[in-house]
Amino acid sequence: MRTVVVTGAGGFLGKLLVEKLSKDESIETILALDMKEPLESLGNLPKTKKKVVDITDELQVKKAIEGYQVHGVVHLAAIMSGLSEADITSAMKINMIGAINMMLSVANEATNPRFVFSSSIAAFGNVAHKATYNPDINGGAPDDRQPASTYGSTKAAVELLLANYSRKKLIDGISLRIPIVAVRPGIPSGAASTFVSDLVREPLQGNNVQCPVEPEQSVVVISPRKTIEALYKALLHMNTSQLGPSRVLVVPGISAQAKDYVESLRKIAGEETAKRVSYRKDPKIYDIISTWPSKMDSKLARKLGLSPDDSSDDIVRQFIEDYMPGANI
Ligand SMILES: NC(=O)c1ccc[n+]([C@@H]2O[C@H](COP(=O)([O-])OP(=O)(O)OC[C@H]3O[C@@H](n4cnc5c(N)ncnc54)[C@H](O)[C@@H]3O)[C@@H](O)[C@H]2O)c1
Repeated sequence: MRTVVVTGAGGFLGKLLVEKLSKDESIETILALDMKEPLESLGNLPKTKKKVVDITDELQVKKAIEGYQVHGVVHLAAIMSGLSEADITSAMKINMIGAINMMLSVANEATNPRFVFSSSIAAFGNVAHKATYNPDINGGAPDDRQPASTYGSTKAAVELLLANYSRKKLIDGISLRIPIVAVRPGIPSGAASTFVSDLVREPLQGNNVQCPVEPEQSVVVISPRKTIEALYKALLHMNTSQLGPSRVLVVPGISAQAKDYVESLRKIAGEETAKRVSYRKDPKIYDIISTWPSKMDSKLARKLGLSPDDSSDDIVRQFIEDYMPGANI
């Protein structure tokens, strides 16, 4: 594969992915697209050409990839769930029109480029209220999308458009429905799900944190390591023939309750650290999170080589290894 495009390349997942792709021998050029500031923070990586692009502007997107034969895209640029709910206009423009602009700009019947879309389990929406929903919906079951948030609606809508573009063989699409990615370093993001990361990161860094959902709230989580592995495999090493017409693949995560992460903190970092967590329900966050699946069983993704993390302990340990090396824990 020669040229690949990564959008949202200066974001949390984008940076990790571009770093990994820049070490891959099969890739000649990475076009890293993002807004100015996030892109500046990406640093200089081999084979990587940084392009400042607002994906809501089709001309800017076309200009950025002009002259390149694009073999693959990982489309990550978006605004997250909390911001989408607060600003529906931006969500429509960035998450919807931005994704359409990307598909329009690379669609090519002759080369049929791989197009990996970072969808979310928020696309399930109210279907998630069934205790254990079987997400292997790749036969194209019509009722698997009942998003109950602006973010989930935009993700579900793009999934449909990507499936149609793939049916027309203009792109070779995969919509990865990604669980909550944790633990995220840095400051809390605009995602309603950011609390899972906050719950682990803040106490480890000596700060108190309020958990906005009840201790028994179950959430499906995946580590950054496993997420990058899924995006990488979907871009370079996945046969789409088993995906069926929906082109949706539900990425496996682990289901655990909020209090399990506090228990893991207690086990790994001690009582003092675990005591930094208190619970105070925030209806704004809870109303979004409670419509997402709390349990999933992604058989097809496992068959295609993706696997979940081991446990909440594993999620906590990975954060310490990757982002707090040398910490006395
Ligand atoms: N992090 C998670 O928990 C999670 C879970 C499921 C799905 N996803 C999806 O994965 C993708 C990446 O997530 P992330 O956590 O890295 O998010 P992030 O917010 O860290 O990165 C998103 C990037 O998109 C860029 N962007 C936003 N609007 C843009 C525009 N108009 N033009 C160009 N770039 C623009 C931002 O500048 C940012 O760098 C998103 O699509 C998200 O919905 C994330």
